[in-house]
Amino acid sequence: MTSAVVHPAAIGGGTSAGGSRVATAGLDLTHGVVLYLEAISVSFDGFKALNKLSLSIDAGELRCVIGPNGAGKTTMMDVITGKTRPDAGTAFFGQTIDLTKLSESQIAHAGIGRKFQKPTIFVRHTVFENLELSMKADKRVRKTLFAKLSPSERDAIDETLKLIRLKEESDKVAGLLSHGQKQWLEIGMLLMQEPRLLLLDEPVAGMSDEETERTAELFLSLAGKHSLVVVEHDMAFIEKIARKVTVLHEGSVIAEGPMEQVQNDPKVVEVYLGR
Ligand SMILES: Nc1ncnc2c1ncn2[C@@H]1O[C@H](COP(=O)(O)OP(=O)(O)OP(=O)(O)O)[C@@H](O)[C@H]1O
Ligand SMILES: [Mg+2]
Repeated sequence: MTSAVVHPAAIGGGTSAGGSRVATAGLDLTHGVVLYLEAISVSFDGFKALNKLSLSIDAGELRCVIGPNGAGKTTMMDVITGKTRPDAGTAFFGQTIDLTKLSESQIAHAGIGRKFQKPTIFVRHTVFENLELSMKADKRVRKTLFAKLSPSERDAIDETLKLIRLKEESDKVAGLLSHGQKQWLEIGMLLMQEPRLLLLDEPVAGMSDEETERTAELFLSLAGKHSLVVVEHDMAFIEKIARKVTVLHEGSVIAEGPMEQVQNDPKVVEVYLGR
């Protein structure tokens, strides 16, 4: 685990005129593990938001993380993305990338994408343009909208439009999309950066039942090619997409396994599902 640790400077360290350097090629998945957290602790003024949290996500896995308010789910994502530094513990992306030594932007460049609850789309641009603008920076210079797209770039956008079910809305101004469609567009924008791991914090909050259903289908279609960690309180949604479920409580994992198993776990029922 500790051999050949990538030096932070090797990952998106410089922002030269051509944009950032690629680091995903350096992602070592030899043991099939895309994310490995061990004994991560985070304290806020003496309060332990994460308490020796350990978690391992396989490459291509779709992992659901559930747990009561304040359990530490968002804090866990903050640690993975470099927004919060752990006081103790180990966090590796693949075999060699030590996340605790990288900045937020280096982690994003290394291939970890995060979806926040409020979509950060360009409302005055069309759906197509939004995807175009978010293509990997090392593939296209920032002037994108004025440069001609290559056929393969066009194909990549087209593929994403189909995946997020916005093909028909391609030329629509993004500000006019429904709430759910905006969320899908943001997921599409993340996908254009070809992340190896996607973190989604409460992705279906505020969505209609139909939008929630479609989001479940989208996530299921992403699994395998991408690794996903999904945090959500909507249990009907979790039941639809769940493979392995991790339950957090007071900053630690209290149960992990198939949905039926964690649902019937007395500890989980007591602190979360039974309320
Ligand atoms: N920056 C911070 N400063 C102080 N306390 C914080 C900070 N961030 C989180 N906390 C606290 O850490 C605990 C864990 O919060 P976190 O947001 O990770 O929970 P969560 O599981 O995402 O909850 P929810 O389901 O409500 O989103 C909470 O008690 C929260 O108040
Ligand atoms: Mg949260």
